[in-house]
Amino acid sequence: MSKHHTVRRHTPRSLAALDTPIVSLTAYTTPMARLLDPHCDLLLVGDSLGMVVYGMDSTLAVSVEMMIAHGQAVVRGSQKACVAVDMPFGSYQESPQQAFRVAADIMARTGAGCVKLEGGQEMAETIAFLVQRGIPVIGHIGLKPQAVHAHGGFRTVGRGHEADQVMADAQAVEKAGAFAVVIESTMEPLSRAITEALSIMTIGIGASPLCDGQILVAEDMLGLFPDFTPRFVRKFANLGQEVDRAVADYAHAVRTRSFPGPAECVGMAKPE
Ligand code: KIV
Repeated sequence: MSKHHTVRRHTPRSLAALDTPIVSLTAYTTPMARLLDPHCDLLLVGDSLGMVVYGMDSTLAVSVEMMIAHGQAVVRGSQKACVAVDMPFGSYQESPQQAFRVAADIMARTGAGCVKLEGGQEMAETIAFLVQRGIPVIGHIGLKPQAVHAHGGFRTVGRGHEADQVMADAQAVEKAGAFAVVIESTMEPLSRAITEALSIMTIGIGASPLCDGQILVAEDMLGLFPDFTPRFVRKFANLGQEVDRAVADYAHAVRTRSFPGPAECVGMAKPE
């Protein structure tokens, strides 16, 4: 018997069998994936990387090649979590055939377990086309960051008459065959009603504690993304402050020539 035991990676099917809420965070790089993987069921290579990693002011300019490079990095850095890769803006809205070509490329070149795409009723045909051809899909409804201009900004979606549309979107995504749906920045009672109405998993971000799982952008909950913090983010750490302190200490050590010291140099005489 081999002494190396292999860790089984979560699949869309094993996620559905979990009897605790799905723990999910975004990841964009190998070192971050290594840190998050032991604790997470699902890692999302979100197109939010355009804003968080590349400093863009929306996700609209993120390319398929960027998603593939970061998807590969996250798959390399994880063993246990199911990895989902976002389909970026413009890579799937044109036709189901375009979506299939891009999704297949993402799946083949990254080794991810599924893709996520934004949209409800209007994307149902595309979701069905991908699912029927063997690509597991996570839908994304409520606030759709790729539609930020149509929404009129990053805001809560689903107040008043919008609620019926968000519910219809959720039902269309389920009917099309998605195995899960992200509900973003939506009124809590609506997110709860969607979770009760659907049999597929709901993964909330600014949604409801009753969703079947929760997701946050890792840099937001770690306090590493100071540009903008949505109301729905809880900061579980303030690592930005810790980085600031460490870099200030490093700068001081370099300027006062206390770094590198004898332990960090080869053959340097220890001070008397
Ligand atoms: O791109 C992203 O990070 C996402 C999550 C916020 C759900 O879609």
